[in-house]
Order: sequence, then structure tokens, then C-alpha cells
Amino acid sequence: MGSKAVRAAITSISHYVPPEILNNQFFETQLETSDHWIRTRTGILERRIARTGGTSDLIIPAAKKCLEQRGIASGEIDCIIVATVTPDYVFPSTASIVQAGIEASNAWGFDLSAACCGFIVAMSIASSFVESGSARRVLVCGADKMTSITNYEDRTSAVLFGDAAGVALVERSEDESVGVIDHLAHMDGRFTNQLYMPAGGSVKPASYETVANREHFLVQDGSTVFKAASKEMAEVTQEILQRNGLTQEDIRWFVPHQANRRIIDAVGERLGLEDDRVMCNIQHYGNTSSATIPLCLSEWMEKGELHKGDNVVLSSFGAGFTAASMYMRWAISPKLEPAKVENAFVYAEAAD
Ligand code: UT7
Repeated sequence: MGSKAVRAAITSISHYVPPEILNNQFFETQLETSDHWIRTRTGILERRIARTGGTSDLIIPAAKKCLEQRGIASGEIDCIIVATVTPDYVFPSTASIVQAGIEASNAWGFDLSAACCGFIVAMSIASSFVESGSARRVLVCGADKMTSITNYEDRTSAVLFGDAAGVALVERSEDESVGVIDHLAHMDGRFTNQLYMPAGGSVKPASYETVANREHFLVQDGSTVFKAASKEMAEVTQEILQRNGLTQEDIRWFVPHQANRRIIDAVGERLGLEDDRVMCNIQHYGNTSSATIPLCLSEWMEKGELHKGDNVVLSSFGAGFTAASMYMRWAISPKLEPAKVENAFVYAEAAD
């Protein structure tokens, strides 16, 4: 903690969201709900939906952009980690499909299942690979096509989720003062049924019955998850601050998982952080599971608001129940000045 000889750092980050927007008015026509309820109870105004393709189709444009920004060829990637709960297939790995899609012929890779904590967990593994010298360049992909497992007949969950991908390139840092400094995770496996997809795994393989019962969609006990997320994300952040001798004053950017605006506000309040130090873009994307954190980091880079040397703390909570946090000192400067970035969707549109 804090005294590693070799540091791993994010040297490029990018994202992709599909162009089609589902706004709250769409749900008013389908379900007994209202724009007002969704806005006030979740903070979400709109989310993105990919009607065709798989999670790899979200990752590939983001991955290409990530490498292009860094100026390296895909053949220089050693390993691809895809954190997702919506893989293209149960097997082979989505990582292998991404590898072919970006022609990273020298890379191996794998998928990782840690739900909304997926990006932080994948980052911690990538950092360990780079620190140990077993990989030089790892592509960390946090991506989910949540609309493929969303039950559009269930108003309590249908309004929450969207599709997105975020991709980070992790490399050995030339400068020891920046990079990933610490990470931690906790798990309490007693809460399976509070947040899960009942069928499609080995316990309940697909059958006429599971399809008829709509068991291939995400099911959650919203208020239990809400309470646990608010508590655990604050605690895991306090823990990482404490063990690195930091206070909340030292945080430049707090990057919470984006599941509900009220959870983000509650965690920020518990930590004593003002809004101008908390990244939040849930209003545009909803909950994109493992993509939420890299999507924030990438947008803040595009806006020119994330700078080399900034203390950045990531925090997440999700199915498992799992809570994770990561502390890093940001390693790269934005290429664009804030004035040159018109809006957060600049890159997503260009990528289409
Ligand atoms: O990434 C991790 C995964 N998930 C989460 O982190 C989600 C965490 N949970 C939440 O974000 C919130 O619990 C929800 C947004 C899911 C629900 O908000 P809530 O304020 O906790 O509402 P509630 O579950 O206590 O429900 C209050 C009422 C209920 O009606 P009754 O029983 O009081 O008549 C719900 O049926 O709100 C109703 N409701 C809705 N009403 C209109 C639930 N969803 C809707 C809706 N529109 N979309």
C-alpha cells in the first residue's frame, strides 16, 4: 500500500454508447410510471439502447479509440479483460471476440463476473499483472448490454438500465508518483436472490418454462439493494482513505457506481463530499453496470476536468453482494481544453 516499486496506470481511456436514446416518456407509454417518478426517485432522464449486436459491439469501437488516443497498435496488447454480466455468449469469452474484432493477435484474455464492481475488480487484476511484470499492456473493458436482460414489463427495474462500454489501457507508469495505489473488495454471498438473473445458468438452464416465466431477466429487491449500496459504498471508501492516510479533503474526484442518483447523493453526504468533487452522469445513461465508472472517467477526460496528479477514488457496489474501491493518482492530462469540448456525446457520435 503506497510503497510499490512499480506502478500500473491508466494511460488512455475511452467509451462508447449506442446512439439510440430511450427517454422517460417512452416508459410512460409502456408502463404505469411517470417521468416525474423516474426523475425524482432515480435521477435518470434517459438511457441508451443497442437494438442489435452484443456487448463486444459496444467494446470494440471504444477499444479502437482507446488505442488510437495512446498511439499504439492492437498487436501491442498482452491481455484483454472484459468485466460484464452480459457476455456475448456463455462461452467463448467476450474477450476473445474483442481480440478478433480489434485484431489484437498477441493478446490472451478472459471475462470476469463481478457485476457492478466489475471494472474495479478488473482494474485490480490488470494492475497486479503489470506490477508483477507478467503483462505490459492490459486492456480493461467494463461493458454491459443491460437492456438484453431488462424486463420491460417490470416498472421497478425497466427504467433503471442502459447499454455502454468503457475501456482503459493499463500500463507500467514511467512516473512512480501516479497510477493505481490501492484497491480493496468485500463480498457477502448471502444475498443471491436480492439481485440476480434466475435462469440461464447451470441451476436453471433455459427451458420453455423459464422463458414463459420471464426468468431470463434481472430481478432485484430494490430497497434492500438501495440501503446496502448506500452504506457499503461509503464504508469501502472510508476504509481505503483510512488505510492510505487520506481524508475526504484529499479526494479531487470521487467516482461512484451510477445506480441511483439518491444513492450517489447519500454516499457523497456520508463522506462529506460536495457535488463538484463527485462524478455523476446517471441522468444520461442510467445504470450501465460495469461501464458506469469508466464512462465517467472517459467523459471527464473529454471535458478536460480530470488532470494528471488528481487523487481519484472509485467506489462500487453490486450483485454478490460485492463492494469495491480503488485509489489512484491520475496519470494523464486531457488532450482537449474544456472550451473545445462541446458536449459529452462528441466521441460517441464520431464513433458511429
Ligand atoms: O447496480 C446495483 C443494482 N441496482 C441498484 O442499485 C438499485 C437500487 N435500488 C433503487 O434504485 C431503488 O430502490 C428503486 C429505484 C429500484 C426503487 O425506488 P424506491 O424509492 O426504493 O421505491 P420502492 O421500491 O420503495 O417503491 C415505492 C413505490 C412502490 O409502490 P407501492 O408499493 O408503494 O404502491 C413501487 O411499486 O414506488 C413504486 N414504483 C414505481 N412507481 C412508478 C417502483 N418503480 C416505479 C416506477 N414508476 N418506475
